[in-house]
Amino acid sequence: MNNKPTNKVIEYALEASEFDWEIKPGKIIRAWGFNQQLPGPLLKAKQGDTLVVKVINNLPEATIVHWHGIRLPASMDGTGEVQKPIEPGETFEYRFDVPDAGTFWYHSHHNETVQVERGMYGGIVVKAENDPIVDNDRILLVDDMKLTKGNTFKKGGAVSRWMERHDGREGGTCLINGKEAPTLHMNAGQVERWRFVNAASARYFKLSLQGKPFRVIATDGGLLEAPGTKTELLITPGERYDIIVGPFDEGETFNIETLPYNRMTFAKSKRKMYATVQVAEAKPSKAFIPGKLNEIPSLVQQNAKVNRVVKMSVGPSLKRGIDFLVNGEMHCNDAPVMVGDLQVWEVYNTSLMDHPFHLHGFFFQVLEENGKMPAYKAWKDTYNLKPKSKIKIAWMPDNRPGRWMYHCHILEHHAAGMMAHFEVIDPAQPRRKEVKTAHGCHV
Ligand code: C2O
Ligand code: CU
Repeated sequence: MNNKPTNKVIEYALEASEFDWEIKPGKIIRAWGFNQQLPGPLLKAKQGDTLVVKVINNLPEATIVHWHGIRLPASMDGTGEVQKPIEPGETFEYRFDVPDAGTFWYHSHHNETVQVERGMYGGIVVKAENDPIVDNDRILLVDDMKLTKGNTFKKGGAVSRWMERHDGREGGTCLINGKEAPTLHMNAGQVERWRFVNAASARYFKLSLQGKPFRVIATDGGLLEAPGTKTELLITPGERYDIIVGPFDEGETFNIETLPYNRMTFAKSKRKMYATVQVAEAKPSKAFIPGKLNEIPSLVQQNAKVNRVVKMSVGPSLKRGIDFLVNGEMHCNDAPVMVGDLQVWEVYNTSLMDHPFHLHGFFFQVLEENGKMPAYKAWKDTYNLKPKSKIKIAWMPDNRPGRWMYHCHILEHHAAGMMAHFEVIDPAQPRRKEVKTAHGCHV
């Protein structure tokens, strides 16, 4: 991680609107998105650059854009906590530095279960000097849509709505970069970096290249310390993983697919195909993937004292059937933290289903999962909690005071209450008057 600004400003304009999008020949949906593309334009920068993104809202309803994983000032985080929704016809300019290299993404943070589902998301790639050298670098945003026979987004009846509230919205149309079952081409003898983003509302993506091994080199907060070879990799909603693929031989073909992952939903998880890769004629390679990629300093000792407990749970509700809670409350208001005060949190999932825990604006390190050290060090902003499990995480509230939040990244769970907001306070600054008084939650 590096905070050196480059003084280079990169400007983008993103116009949110409704438009026709062909997900495969003849299959056209009425999408919502940015610049009439699904996903929206890829935003590119170098570590330390300043991004200025003007969001113009031409949708029939208000929106807000969140920059998932970027360590930006609270006022630019793009949530209802820190800004007023951008109304139809209005424009809002986001401006922030990108202090970390890696794979990030932007998505609507307003009426998300509708807006993100319809396509309001895009990728952000921030490059660094020490990135491994590859022959090709691509971002692959995976998503799924639940469409009617006529390819519309209409919601189902009471039973299917109840299932959606419980499971999150999953659909049978699987997309990779906005297309259904596309063919990707690469050259034999070459080595590529594929940056996966799970942009789905709820579907867990268990990556497989039909058994072909690949090397994992990066996750949410950038490069790992060393590559790790795998044949399967779970990527939960909101998470990113970068992998190195190849070299392959000319004529090889294989699918990019998700394997079944049982996250204890009503609907049964199935294997699904996302894309076919065809390997064409050989080309020379200049790729070099070093054995040591990065150094990740430990934030704390393993046995650091816990200073907060967060409990994700589900509870019965007379009105709604089921509620999604943090510390026993829907949309919990958690206690503030002080700038510079190292946070060691124990996060529990007491429910019988999985939840991907996401912290806005800061990266954390997982110290323990169910009492065990994780296999490798990483900077994370989203981490899956299996049923009846707990993690111990550490993160440092650096000098970016303001209103922040954490939540389950299954969008329907977030909307149903599995989230908390809290304030980061700079003790040197007088607090703004209008700030809601934060009280601790009932644990
Ligand atoms: Cu990508 Cu509040 O989330
Ligand atoms: Cu959840």
